[in-house]
Amino acid sequence: MVDLINVSYDTQIPNNVGLSEDRKVLKALEKWHPGYINWWNGLIPEQFQKSQVYLRTAVSVDPKGWASFGYVNMPEYRWGVLLAPQVEDRKIPFGEHKGEPAWQEVPGEYRNMLKRLIVIQGDTEPGSVEQQRFLGLTAPSLYDLRNLFQVNVEEGRHLWAMVYLLHKYFGKDGREEADDLLRRSSGSDEAPRMLGAFNEETPDWLSFFMFTYFTDRDGKMQLESLAQSGFDPLSRTCRFMLTEEAHHMFVGETGIGRTIDRTCQVMNENGITDPYDINRIRELGVIDLPTMQKKLNLHYTLSLDLFGQEVSTNAANAFNAGIKGRYMEPRIDDDHQLTNDTYKVWDLVDGKLTHHEVPALTAINMRLRDDYVRDAAGGIGRWNKIIEKAGIEFEMKLPHEAFNRKIGVFANLNFDPEGNLLSDEEYKAGVPQWLPNKSDGDFIQSLMVPVSEPGKYAGWISPPKVGIDSKPGDFEYVKLHMA
Ligand SMILES: [Fe+2]
Ligand SMILES: [Fe+2]
Repeated sequence: MVDLINVSYDTQIPNNVGLSEDRKVLKALEKWHPGYINWWNGLIPEQFQKSQVYLRTAVSVDPKGWASFGYVNMPEYRWGVLLAPQVEDRKIPFGEHKGEPAWQEVPGEYRNMLKRLIVIQGDTEPGSVEQQRFLGLTAPSLYDLRNLFQVNVEEGRHLWAMVYLLHKYFGKDGREEADDLLRRSSGSDEAPRMLGAFNEETPDWLSFFMFTYFTDRDGKMQLESLAQSGFDPLSRTCRFMLTEEAHHMFVGETGIGRTIDRTCQVMNENGITDPYDINRIRELGVIDLPTMQKKLNLHYTLSLDLFGQEVSTNAANAFNAGIKGRYMEPRIDDDHQLTNDTYKVWDLVDGKLTHHEVPALTAINMRLRDDYVRDAAGGIGRWNKIIEKAGIEFEMKLPHEAFNRKIGVFANLNFDPEGNLLSDEEYKAGVPQWLPNKSDGDFIQSLMVPVSEPGKYAGWISPPKVGIDSKPGDFEYVKLHMA
């Protein structure tokens, strides 16, 4: 009898999918495994591979057991295949098959669509690890170093999750796709990652925090929609991935919050009230708030592009087929088939932004992006509370969705962060105030010096309020390997 809650360690790959009795898939995964370890070892600098990192590992998928903490050498981390428990008698919750039993096997007519969605999701996971590969060398504390590696090993596990589905349900072409996930690489000329934001650099820790706040949140929205899928194994896979994703966004939100907190503190200690007194603030070794706003503008807009075209027949087809649903699908009060509904999308008429109604089925991407915008706004409010509490007059804001876009109705048009359409000259003149430039990047880079004494933090960031796994402030989250 296969235990579907506790993780079994009787094969090389920890899992709760009964791999030891599924020889064919087990064999295929064992064949894929060395390539994965190669990829991992090629990425993470060697001194960290040999270090002891205080990481959580899933030992079961029930709420109590999935995060078990302990010191691990990362190459020995037990990346596993974990699915949330099967819901009995689960029905397809939306689309033309709504109410039919959820599929346990791939429905033939939707095979390609499903495979493509799994590959796209799978491609983002290793992409982000590649983007973050050098950050360990400049971690502002052992606490942050540990968080980086926690995010990295879990993105690695998310890759395993998608590779399992490819191997298990898509035969030979699934195996080829799984190999290609290790062949493409972030920023590569010949074989880049599939989505733009995963080919950008993550050059410093502020970028990392922005990335985990904004781009991992896109991941959350995509996983939420796939968790609704009528293809039950995909739904269960994504449901478990979501439990891990929450920590990634926590790392981002608190990382930015701690950076803001430290800047405000240093400004107050030195009697600086003007947040735009940038040179003085920078001389004190902290990141000025306007520069943080620029970084926010960049990462937010890159992440908005991940939602694709506002009006999309692909998205409509995936919804109709019961393959990819909407955020919080069961809580939406409609027919879940969208036969007569409409939804508002942006449009540009005579240089003015307006909304117009389109069939809701075609606006699935737009709706998910709207949900994302609402979700992303929460942290902004909490960051502003930190600034307000420090008595500094400055407000972080999400820029208008039309700003700095490469995909969709606003692509390559000149909008400012308030949503005004500008001429080329006006736009060019404004960009240095809206997006980080080389000198901003150089300044941030100059602050990126590693701090490796337990309980100590780089000067540009405040310590966290609470430790991971309730550990005390001077806990040694990483026992560094000394060469
Ligand atoms: Fe992920
Ligand atoms: Fe993530």
